[in-house]
Amino acid sequence: MPTIKAVRGTRDLLPPETALWNRVEAVARDVFRRYGFHEIRTPVLEATELFARGVGEETDIVSKEMYTWEDRARAQSEKAQSLTLRPENTAGVVRAYIEHKLGDTGQLQKLYYIGPQFRRERPQKGRYRQFFQIGAEVIGPATAGSESPLRDAEVLEMLAALLDALEIPRASAENEFRGWRLQLNSVGSSTDRPRYVAALREALGPVKDRMCPDNQRRAETNPLRVLDSKDVEDQEIIDALPKIADYLDDASKAHFAAVLDSLDACGVPYTVNPRLVRGLDYYTRTTFEFTVNLGLGTQNAMLGGGRYDGLSEMLGGPRAPGIGFAIGEDRLILTLQALEEARAAAAGEIAVTPKMDAYVAPLSVGQHAAALRLAHELRAAGLAVEVGDGSFRLKRSFEAAERVARAIVIVGEDEVAHQVATVKTFATGEQRKVGFGELAAVLGE
Ligand code: HAM
Repeated sequence: MPTIKAVRGTRDLLPPETALWNRVEAVARDVFRRYGFHEIRTPVLEATELFARGVGEETDIVSKEMYTWEDRARAQSEKAQSLTLRPENTAGVVRAYIEHKLGDTGQLQKLYYIGPQFRRERPQKGRYRQFFQIGAEVIGPATAGSESPLRDAEVLEMLAALLDALEIPRASAENEFRGWRLQLNSVGSSTDRPRYVAALREALGPVKDRMCPDNQRRAETNPLRVLDSKDVEDQEIIDALPKIADYLDDASKAHFAAVLDSLDACGVPYTVNPRLVRGLDYYTRTTFEFTVNLGLGTQNAMLGGGRYDGLSEMLGGPRAPGIGFAIGEDRLILTLQALEEARAAAAGEIAVTPKMDAYVAPLSVGQHAAALRLAHELRAAGLAVEVGDGSFRLKRSFEAAERVARAIVIVGEDEVAHQVATVKTFATGEQRKVGFGELAAVLGE
């Protein structure tokens, strides 16, 4: 029989790697807690129209990368509906904000999420068709301060704090290629943008025929996308195009300047990149990306985000400015793994998997129940415990125990009768008798 493999672009996450995923998520949750964020869980399945309207029909995500299908009606009362596996979660969070009238509280909503997203991209290292994002959104009525540049700066400062907590270094002059780098830009308000796009179209008119076919198409459908083209031959033309900074109105300029001032005050390093426009249509004003040159190859954008002051209205909701980001968790993990490998290699260490506290070995099948009961008590006391099989010979039990645990606890007929186990600690080779009642304390030392 041929075997069945995971679908292209998806992957299984196996232990021990899953321990790293859990650690990253625990650190993120703790940082979110300290900044007043609460978790939101939205469905993986959404109406296709949510992304068409929210992310934009002309974006690569919506035009090429979504997993979309017409869902059959199951009953006469049901209509067939076009469904999509979410390619990102900002649109879903704003849908939930509108649907549950979270704006009616008058409060700012600070929401975070951790979960899978789906895009039909060409798979490569750091790029998958099912990938995970750790994201957060700050959204609310303008009266709650949701438009304030303080919110932009707080989100960026929180990201710096999260990366610090995960011990990912900041890029510095000496360490230019090892750390993270924040690039940001302002793409202007919903009134600045059309003026800029018109200027771009005009500037592209006479030169677009000299560009690659992709950029020729973008020049027609979505000229902003030309700016983040990686086509080497087109760079000279792109560099000469008008800059968004020259099209910002006074309010957008002041907003951006205030964000930069706060970042300076908080000691968050950044570079302004006038070409950073990002691939989703909902952005207004501040947009940003954090890149790392570690373990990611060409997929060096570890996270991205920005402000979306008009998204709620695009989805039929009330005015509710917002700002947020999503970290590519897969890419964050690859970065941490590359850092750990470099650290271990520099220290000349060999990788060791952490061991369990004890391996309870019944001497024969007759002690299975007693061994399981003892293991239950030790586990209830917080220890990590494995249980062996009484049909093993003693030598095999010792070998199995040493592979996974720091100590073996032997449970034979005598031991059960006297409620005293024989314990051997592998690191010291010491062997002793310990009463069942004291075992948890002794093994936990
Ligand atoms: P995005 O830039 O499309 O933004 O994705 C954010 C991050 O997700 C990227 O920087 C990257 O690390 C990761 N990512 C994207 N596609 C893949 C893939 N195929 N494989 C692995 N990782 C990937 C958004 O999704 C916005 N919703 C972010 C946001 C939140 N803006 C405002 N709030």
